[in-house]
Amino acid sequence: MECIKVKDLAYSYDGENYAVKNVSFNIKRGSYTTIIGHNGSGKSTIAKLLIGLLEKNQGSIEIEGLELNMENIYKIRNKVGIVFQNPDNQFIGSTVRDDIAFGLENHCVPQIQMDPIIEEFAKKVNMSEFLDSEPGHLSGGQKQRVAIAGVLAMHPDIIIFDESTSMLDPQGKDEIKRFIYQLHQNKQLTIISITHDIEEVSVSDDVIVMNDGNIIMHGKPEEVLLNDKKLIDIKLDVPFSIKLSLALAKQGIKIEKQLSLEKVVDAICQLDLKK
Ligand SMILES: Nc1ncnc2c1ncn2[C@@H]1O[C@H](COP(=O)(O)OP(=O)(O)O)[C@@H](O)[C@H]1O
Ligand SMILES: [Mg+2]
Repeated sequence: MECIKVKDLAYSYDGENYAVKNVSFNIKRGSYTTIIGHNGSGKSTIAKLLIGLLEKNQGSIEIEGLELNMENIYKIRNKVGIVFQNPDNQFIGSTVRDDIAFGLENHCVPQIQMDPIIEEFAKKVNMSEFLDSEPGHLSGGQKQRVAIAGVLAMHPDIIIFDESTSMLDPQGKDEIKRFIYQLHQNKQLTIISITHDIEEVSVSDDVIVMNDGNIIMHGKPEEVLLNDKKLIDIKLDVPFSIKLSLALAKQGIKIEKQLSLEKVVDAICQLDLKK
């Protein structure tokens, strides 16, 4: 059931200040968890610890039943994929095809098997027609979709998005958000998304709120985003429309993901009728 178990995890870059301080949390297999918190609160450090890019100073990390240590690190890296913030830093090939192939080459997939895999995953992210394009000529949203295809082609159990939409224009942001949500629908993958987008948080299963290296809340969006007292403490703003839709959801009135005024009015009318 649990696919990530983190206990008493701590990490310091300089041996003095702790970027992550004694953090514990579990994540369920197939769930979609968002992580929010101000810049510098330790979100990316946690992501890097989970994929073994940084070595913890204290505590334990268990992924799919395997303890993250020197012995298991390569097995774990095969299970966890990450998509970073800046799409330009993830490209090295001269075509989209080369870029998706890169990860497969690293995983020693034989050349002859590569093309069908590349085509399958390019299709999944709706980039089939760009396979022979230069990555540099794509929009930000398209670049991130290629990066996602490269990660998915490795068949990870867990995928981490570290602010993968933050450098995109509104259309690109929407594309990727919708894609992440779609990915979640088949529940095969465990998704962790570090984000500043409260609307994305409101549609995830669970939210972790970080502040100054600590987890200060971990729960369902309707619990976390309606906890005004704690949110004010850390000066985190939740738009009224989202609070309203979560409050209605708590009453058993579900509003579709994309909030519109019309739907809100409908929902309020329903609420009146129920009374
Ligand atoms: N490579 C690094 N070297 C030294 N300090 C770092 C490094 N990366 C991050 N930090 C520090 O660690 C803390 C947490 O950073 P980070 O995990 O990147 O936060 P977030 O992703 O929430 O913005 C911050 O104080 C940051 O300045
Ligand atoms: Mg970060």
